[in-house]
Amino acid sequence: MTIPVLPLDRYERIVFFTGAGLSAECGLPTYRGAGGIWSEYNYEDFACQRAFDRDPEKVWDFHDERRRIMGEAEPGLAHRVIARLQQERAGTAIVTQNIDGLHQQAGATEVIELHGSVWRVRCRCPDGLQENHDQPIERQCPACSAYRRPDIVWFEDPMQEGPLRAAATAIAECDLLVSIGTSGVVYPAAALPQLARQTGAMCVEINPEETEVSGQYQVNLRMGASEALSSLWPEVAEMSR
Ligand code: APR
Repeated sequence: MTIPVLPLDRYERIVFFTGAGLSAECGLPTYRGAGGIWSEYNYEDFACQRAFDRDPEKVWDFHDERRRIMGEAEPGLAHRVIARLQQERAGTAIVTQNIDGLHQQAGATEVIELHGSVWRVRCRCPDGLQENHDQPIERQCPACSAYRRPDIVWFEDPMQEGPLRAAATAIAECDLLVSIGTSGVVYPAAALPQLARQTGAMCVEINPEETEVSGQYQVNLRMGASEALSSLWPEVAEMSR
């Protein structure tokens, strides 16, 4: 496969748009495809408000296991390359569908989390939204005794307006969009990369497999995240190892 030459100094505003495939190299399962979470669990029983209202303990059993597995994972080379590029290049944004916090663990900041975070919970308390990395977590808030609700955008939830607006703005204004590890089937997130295409940005898809949105990209790198970023920007990858 020929790797296109994308000199970093040609671009002023780069957006990394990431999905579960970015963390696959860190040992975390993706949601779809071989070994995908949704092939083992029905989201209607474990990851939606109806399930939480019906059986919060069952939903917390599932999310405590996600927190355990995600807590054991370390950011991969791709996470580190992205964080380094953000640190070194003003105007670089990170929009993720992931809830695992690995971008931040790699040193990224101001990560736009479209689907929330497994490390945040909220409850009925006025200051109830909090970061919480306890393993296992105290499932009921000691102050208001309500079950803590993972601050995750579950299926059937409305999107959180702030992150969605910030993501749309960043992507519409970028001149290079690098999509990594997403199947492009969950909306409205999956519609965002089109904003970059419409404004004439260079759009690159990094995914070992063809996706439903592959045709929206000028470049499709059929390889894993770390291999692709190392091929595109070897010097940055070397410094990030
Ligand atoms: N590098 C890059 N991509 C990879 C790698 C890898 N090493 N391994 C797998 N992939 C690709 C798969 O081919 C697949 O297309 O990552 C993609 C993961 O797709 P999904 O599991 O559907 O994950 P994602 O697109 O992030 O899901 C979107 O769906 O369940 C909801 O809220 C959840 O945020 C999630 C959303």
